[in-house]
Amino acid sequence: MLFRPFVRPPPACKINATMNAAVLHTLGKPPRYGPFAEPVAGDGEVIVHVHAAALKPVDKQLASGSHYASTHALPTVCGIDGVGHRDDGSRVFFGGPRPPYGAMAERTVVRRVFAFALPDALSDETAAAIMNPGVSAWLTLAARAKLAPGENVLILGATGVAGKLATKIAKLLGAARVVSAGRNHEALSTLHKHGADATIRLDSSDSELSEAFAREAGSSGFQVVIDYLWGQPAEAFLAAITRKEFAAIGSETRYVQVGESAGPTISLPAAVLRSTPLTIMGTAGMPPREALADALQKVMAHAVSGELQIETEQIPLAGIEAAWQRDQHGRRFVVIP
Ligand SMILES: NC(=O)c1ccc[n+]([C@@H]2O[C@H](COP(=O)([O-])OP(=O)(O)OC[C@H]3O[C@@H](n4cnc5c(N)ncnc54)[C@H](OP(=O)(O)O)[C@@H]3O)[C@@H](O)[C@H]2O)c1
Repeated sequence: MLFRPFVRPPPACKINATMNAAVLHTLGKPPRYGPFAEPVAGDGEVIVHVHAAALKPVDKQLASGSHYASTHALPTVCGIDGVGHRDDGSRVFFGGPRPPYGAMAERTVVRRVFAFALPDALSDETAAAIMNPGVSAWLTLAARAKLAPGENVLILGATGVAGKLATKIAKLLGAARVVSAGRNHEALSTLHKHGADATIRLDSSDSELSEAFAREAGSSGFQVVIDYLWGQPAEAFLAAITRKEFAAIGSETRYVQVGESAGPTISLPAAVLRSTPLTIMGTAGMPPREALADALQKVMAHAVSGELQIETEQIPLAGIEAAWQRDQHGRRFVVIP
């Protein structure tokens, strides 16, 4: 997770001052639109008047109680990042509101160092939607997987918002070949526009999928795998790389676990780890602020130039409860207070 909630004793709140927010009262239920105490900034903090906040899988995981960073201190406001303006009028992308405050509210409170200036050319809606998955994909590929120009990349879950951005970012970082895998045929057929050199249908039979992984690995293999799915697709890929074609390639595969859209667990046969050079890692840990700021600048620049794109749909803050469980169909909902 890019921004973890920053926990510190809150300064005293103005008892009677309230604003409207997406308030989570019960873990596992959608948040409800309603009044919540106004935030008050403490040392090193700023108030942000929110313009837009994306509704992401992680927001739902946190509210469901299933995320490792879920809070049991309720009520709380949902949303871990967004776009708004500070009291001085400057427009910022912000992350990590101090609990119980969140991004899906009229106002929130964040550490000053996690409010980043935004270029005028980037709209509130696009910035709110693209920064989290885009920066995460950038850091995962560049800093975690240490993708080198000329290496080959496989994206598992490339039809989702994050996977589409990762496909393009892998190309921007100089990948020789990017193979994008997903189960949604319609979305899969558009991935060449995002930079995919080839696609793999994950809804194939086990034997067809194994053949497809081996075929697309070719003679040079995948040096980097970015996995937004885990569950059965991860098991299918890890089973496939025990094939003799992969063993013959010899180069190491750096497999980065990022998301769990297909399931929270896998079964991993010991033979997988003995049969081929493989390192499995996750994206744990907040990046140093400098690395985060650098990735933010890169994603902003490529979003402004139009090389990185995202489909969005506006949701009024008052409609958050109804929108919470709706299928986003590859778009990202952006909550507008
Ligand atoms: N650690 C981080 O920093 C970080 C950052 C971004 C995202 N993530 C995680 O990465 C995951 C994806 O995020 P996202 O923003 O891309 O989500 P998203 O836009 O909701 O997309 C989810 C994708 O997963 C696909 N999917 C679901 N179940 C599947 C299955 N059984 N087999 C194949 N595909 C399946 C969906 O395909 P259909 O269209 O066919 O339903 C959809 O394309 C989430 O778990 C999210 O929390 C983590």
